[in-house]
Amino acid sequence: MNTALIGLQWGDEGKGKLIDYIADSFDVVCRYQGGANAGHTVIFEDNKISLHLIPSGIFHPDKVCIIGNGTVIDIEQLVRELNELKEIGIGFEDRFYISKRAHIIQPAHFLIEKDIKKEIGTTGKGIGPAYADKMSRGGIRMGDIFNSEYLQKFGISSDFIETLTEFREKYGHFIVNTVELLHSFAKKKKKILFEGAQGVMLDIDFGTYPFVTSSNPTPGGIFTGTGASPFSVSRIIGVTKAYSTRVGKGPFPTEMSDKLQNQIRESGGEYGATTGRPRRCGYLDLVSLKYAVQITGITELALSKIDVLDGLGEVKLATEYKIDGKTIDRFPPEIWKVERAKPIYKSFPGWKNTKGINEYRKLPEEAKEYISYIEDFLGSKISMISTGRKRGDLISV
Ligand code: GDP
Ligand code: IMO
Ligand code: MG
Repeated sequence: MNTALIGLQWGDEGKGKLIDYIADSFDVVCRYQGGANAGHTVIFEDNKISLHLIPSGIFHPDKVCIIGNGTVIDIEQLVRELNELKEIGIGFEDRFYISKRAHIIQPAHFLIEKDIKKEIGTTGKGIGPAYADKMSRGGIRMGDIFNSEYLQKFGISSDFIETLTEFREKYGHFIVNTVELLHSFAKKKKKILFEGAQGVMLDIDFGTYPFVTSSNPTPGGIFTGTGASPFSVSRIIGVTKAYSTRVGKGPFPTEMSDKLQNQIRESGGEYGATTGRPRRCGYLDLVSLKYAVQITGITELALSKIDVLDGLGEVKLATEYKIDGKTIDRFPPEIWKVERAKPIYKSFPGWKNTKGINEYRKLPEEAKEYISYIEDFLGSKISMISTGRKRGDLISV
């Protein structure tokens, strides 16, 4: 069954780890949006690897990995990633493809981003300006690097032309018509896994605009970002941490006290996989999650990093907001309302020792109580609970 795995929060929900875990049951893993702003961590043979562009299924040698047309490609980053993975023995021939329609991030995009970087707290990877050029129809795409004459129309520097030429010479065979490829896989009944980057609350349309990224991590992005049929995906796994994090600026109603943030940041390793920035930490926010579940239509939930809450005396989650004295249970579209939102919390007794558990029955009762409250509130079944960084630290429910 073709499946999508999508982050329901502000990114970094542990998508990389889960994709690596479930990839075994699929034939193809495909990224559909975003660029090297993503940092998907996978622990492979005790190496901690952050993937930015290459799908997290790459550690399974028999899986095909595709970077779809909805992404934006930083060629130098891609080369670094290919080299890093090749060094640890990962093979790419006949199993790694990039869409001819994917847009290229150009040196100018990094320069333009400098102005917006401070205001939004972006990753500095040229994402917004590259998507802006795509939408205003001034971008260049991966397939264009095969035609130097065509490229000349864009006033690209000779240095960058050289970068593109080198890439074409070495890796040109990876650049293909991925629409045809995906449909040929579909015809052969191959199973496809779509790997979301970022998360619902960073979606350009549905997130906390303008403190968002410039693409659609939400399901629509899969179809515009790969050319797959909307009827071809029947399973959508929504991933949430057992708490919340956010990197960069923008309102974050359930942000914790500095002291608790420090504690969670250290125990959860909450530092950006792309920029190394400390992540802001907060309680689980069921108001935003209910909204994320609604617009993604997930068929199941995955809960990650439950072990990070081990040892807390009390665990809280937000069930409603108070905005200007009014209690609301719907996530507001207006950023200035989100900024004023004061969460209303429900408290749970804490638990210990969930790290590495891989059977549901072995979880402490207090953790089970927290988990079933989340399921009931969101009306969605939890199918996976992640209890540590490694592939095997997982409970399949
Ligand atoms: P992604 O962007 O959604 O793939 O998530 P990141 O890789 O940016 O951030 C998740 C971080 O949490 C990484 O450092 C993972 O190694 C780590 N991680 C993932 N799942 C778990 C878990 O269940 N427990 C713990 N302790 N760490 C986890
Ligand atoms: P993964 O896939 C967390 C955030 C940035 C900033 C905003 C816009 O690892 O979950 P951008 O560079 O995209 O224009 O920045 O979005 N952001 C992420 N936060 N995880 C990510 O990706 C992110 N990608 C972008 O911090 O607030
Ligand atoms: Mg990440």
